[in-house]
Amino acid sequence: MTTPAGRAHGLADLGNTRFLARVAVIAAIGGFLFGYDTGVIGGALLYIKRDLHATSSFDQQAIVSSLLVGAVVGALIAGRLARRLGRRVTIIVAGWMYVAGGLGAALSQSLWQLVAARLVLGLAVGAASFVAPMYISEMAPKRIRGATVTFNQLMLTTGILVAYIADWALKDVAGNWRWMVGLAVVPGLALAIGMMFVPASPRWLVEQGRDNDARRVLQRLHGRDDVSVELGEIEQAATSHGRHRALLSPAVRPMLVIGIALAAFQQFVGVNTVIYYAPTILSFTGIGAGSALSESIFIGVTNVVFTTVAILLLDRVGRRPLLLVGTSGMVLGLAALGLFFQLGWLQQHAPVVALVALLLYIASFAVGLGPVFWLLISEIFPLDVRGPAESASAVVNWAANFAVSFTFLTLASVVGRPGTFWIYGGIGVLAVVFIARRVPETNGRSLEQIQHQLSAGPGHRT
Ligand code: BGC
Repeated sequence: MTTPAGRAHGLADLGNTRFLARVAVIAAIGGFLFGYDTGVIGGALLYIKRDLHATSSFDQQAIVSSLLVGAVVGALIAGRLARRLGRRVTIIVAGWMYVAGGLGAALSQSLWQLVAARLVLGLAVGAASFVAPMYISEMAPKRIRGATVTFNQLMLTTGILVAYIADWALKDVAGNWRWMVGLAVVPGLALAIGMMFVPASPRWLVEQGRDNDARRVLQRLHGRDDVSVELGEIEQAATSHGRHRALLSPAVRPMLVIGIALAAFQQFVGVNTVIYYAPTILSFTGIGAGSALSESIFIGVTNVVFTTVAILLLDRVGRRPLLLVGTSGMVLGLAALGLFFQLGWLQQHAPVVALVALLLYIASFAVGLGPVFWLLISEIFPLDVRGPAESASAVVNWAANFAVSFTFLTLASVVGRPGTFWIYGGIGVLAVVFIARRVPETNGRSLEQIQHQLSAGPGHRT
């Protein structure tokens, strides 16, 4: 039973929630823009094609894929920046690139200008995709770290939904696609300017030898003067292994395997075929283009709603149960989709089955692999390699995203629609096995305790 003293201590552990909320909201604009810029292009492309004469599928793929290629590079560079300049400054740089890329895209006069602008946007997306959660996780007290970091994924899914709505709402406005891609400049400015007014991460400050500055940030975050326990843990973790071990050293390898495998699984279960091609998949089912567009808004809403469910559950039931249940749900959804496309009578008599299967699939992603991958990679790596190790996981995630997005339509035409969804489902089964065997529970532990537990080797799962 919790004693009053225990409860009081528990509340103190939640820290200065108002300050933390402000910090998390500002940093998570990085997540919002990740979602907006990846989600907006599907609808905008319809009009860009006409205006910029992007008639071949090569041209259109160049427009879509330039952001993903930029994101691979951005994720690669940002690991170093996060270590050298700090998480906060890296996010400020990403904010200005969101502004420059958004303006460049909105004002593009040619296909290649647009491709170049989306490359710049991609650099920002790749960087913000993991440095924003990294920063938030280093600021949050352990008892609410899951929810606070996952707030970034909530902003991301909201960004995707807002992009779908903007595409739909602006379709009859003159110069529509320029507004669709250009609107992102506003949150970009908010991110770049807002981040100038929040403190640097205490973990990074300790790594720089600025322990007094770190103490001040911790005091503010925890809302109390005595933060010697927290500071001591960080200092010890920063020095216990000597600085800057190699990324591939035996002590880091097991965690790197987890980060990279989850990065690949998150994409190879095919999530962005749904996020980027929802109207296409829905139109495969025989429903008209108009309702395919509005039904894709259902998918966006489901993604947001179930990410909220994840936020409510992550710090209660833990990361592993959500990952296991969520990934199993995705497998069921994929199996049902495959079956739907396999059985002609289902398509004729019950097209709603496809929508239900898609919604089950996306809801399951939103409680499991969607948020938990980004959360876990912000938790499992030791401080001295956190930047490069998260960066490596994010690079794999973006490269896998690129690979899946650009083979989906071809795969569907070569092996057929049922086969395509079953392949993703098979990968989902492998993911469930991997998670069950290898992924540790990180709930309720400080980042330093997790580091200690994982360094003790595999088998320390609970
Ligand atoms: C993934 C993205 C995906 C998004 C959908 C993120 O966790 O990394 O690739 O588009 O979730 O909600």
